[in-house]
Amino acid sequence: MFKIDLQGKNALVTGASQGIGQAIARQLAQAGARVAVHYSTHIVDVRDYPGLAQAFQADLASPTQTRQLFRQVTEAFGRVDILVNNAGFAVDSPLDLDDDRWLADWQGILAVNLTACGILCREAVRHFQDRGGGRIINIASRAAFRGDVAAYLAYAASKGGMVSLTRSLARAFGKDNIQAFIIAPGFTRTKMAQQFIDLHGEELVLKDIALNRLTEPGDIAPMVAFLASGLADHATGCTIDINAASYVH
Ligand SMILES: NC(=O)c1ccc[n+]([C@@H]2O[C@H](COP(=O)([O-])OP(=O)(O)OC[C@H]3O[C@@H](n4cnc5c(N)ncnc54)[C@H](O)[C@@H]3O)[C@@H](O)[C@H]2O)c1
Repeated sequence: MFKIDLQGKNALVTGASQGIGQAIARQLAQAGARVAVHYSTHIVDVRDYPGLAQAFQADLASPTQTRQLFRQVTEAFGRVDILVNNAGFAVDSPLDLDDDRWLADWQGILAVNLTACGILCREAVRHFQDRGGGRIINIASRAAFRGDVAAYLAYAASKGGMVSLTRSLARAFGKDNIQAFIIAPGFTRTKMAQQFIDLHGEELVLKDIALNRLTEPGDIAPMVAFLASGLADHATGCTIDINAASYVH
């Protein structure tokens, strides 16, 4: 029988206290994985997650805390088999902000969305090399490919960086039995997206997509479980678009 079975696998999901990350953590746990639920400020109750979930706090704007996060999880779980870099954020940062503010926004977004992802990928690759392999799934964005609005330049650039980082990992470490995948969601109904919906209305977003309802976190999570399962290893380096045909590349 065709079944996604993650029993015996340990996974770290960043930004898993809400939104897409929470759906991913729950999906991986439902498939049998033991999940490290990373959170930043919004404390999680692991009883909300199936199976043997454990919560770990870290501010991913801090490289030190980011490195410590991976090390704490491997210490607690013994090993990690699956890394999902999901944490990320965006802020409105138009070009006419004053120089210092614009640069601070740029650096803050790059630090969390790209640098922390790079640090965790490095930690994971070194860990996987000692243990016969592992899988990395990076949550980028449609914005990496089609671009974004003027106030989201840093966000789009950070997601583009995630894409080339992931492709490079797939090419460089495939012989170590390490696979790396990109998921590029389109507009997905989460707290991050709610501000836009409140401002512009759901109709505008619906017009942009081919389906009749907005994408939900639960529409993203099953693909992560599938990629994590090993059933798609020869697709390593690929990007899966999940954007209701609003941008397909
Ligand atoms: N919602 C969308 O429309 C959409 C579209 C494309 C891509 N994405 C991507 O999906 C991922 C999840 O987004 P979401 O929509 O669920 O948003 P969300 O705001 O609901 O969740 C983002 C998560 O990232 C974490 N995070 C943010 N800054 C952090 C920091 N400094 N340290 C640690 N954790 C931090 C938050 O704690 C939160 O758990 C993000 O990478 C986002 O860029 C979202």
